[in-house]
Amino acid sequence: MKISSMKSIFTAPFVTEIGKTAGNMYRLGYDERNSGNISILLDENMVSEYLDLRFVKREIEIGFDAKELAGKILIVTASGSYFKNIQSTPAENLGIIRISADGSKAELLWGLNGGGKPTSELPAHIMSHISRLSADHDNKVILHCHPTNLLAMTFVHELDEKKFTHTLWQMCTESIMIFPDGIGLLPWMVCGTNEIGEATAEKMREFRLVVWAMHGIYGSGRTLDEAFGLIETAEKAAQVYMLTAHLPRLNTITDEQLKSLAESLNLNYRKDFFPKQK
Ligand code: 13P
Ligand code: ZN
Repeated sequence: MKISSMKSIFTAPFVTEIGKTAGNMYRLGYDERNSGNISILLDENMVSEYLDLRFVKREIEIGFDAKELAGKILIVTASGSYFKNIQSTPAENLGIIRISADGSKAELLWGLNGGGKPTSELPAHIMSHISRLSADHDNKVILHCHPTNLLAMTFVHELDEKKFTHTLWQMCTESIMIFPDGIGLLPWMVCGTNEIGEATAEKMREFRLVVWAMHGIYGSGRTLDEAFGLIETAEKAAQVYMLTAHLPRLNTITDEQLKSLAESLNLNYRKDFFPKQK
């Protein structure tokens, strides 16, 4: 495409949509200060309507092997970006990167103005993209944030992914319908490292949602709405748990009810996540 006929990157749906979603997440209390990060795999033809893909602004060492995504283009949030500011100042708070042919660098095509770097959680994002693509080749989005109730729940609930998922299923009728595949759970680990990236990606082979105990959650999906919707639903269930866990329980959705709901919708749910019948 001729440079002169290129559209403004500031009007690109993948830029405006991240800004809108990040603002909503900030207002929901999921992303205080710079917390949270987003990455979306972009279609090269679509990006070339906005950017000259021959022009690389700078190269950034990524510190792990991303060869499986060589040549792929992603939009990512900048490390330290405040989610409330992404919509108003996207060029400082977002970057469009292409993974180099040898998988060792991010080629910056646009953004990260002022010398910024991609999110410190790039290992977890890139490695999780690789895992999710092996489970669903249309997966595009990895989304991380710190929703209050999910975080709180990891302080007071057993850190067992079967029990954690089952509790969330019990808290809202919709939970099992939205995440019948359950939620993976990792113990507290040092964030921003290749180790937590590898552990997250391992869980992402099996789960679309992964909780980081006492830190936050990762969600994935084909669209930003889908990944965000998964997290929103889990967070709502965690909120109901945190509002009721200390009160006498008078009513409950029984396992039989949950199973009959899942079966009536033909859901491929984690039958092994229900407690064994005594
Ligand atoms: P970044 O600002 O580097 O994306 O880090 C935020 C965060 O949530 C770390 O887990
Ligand atoms: Zn975080």
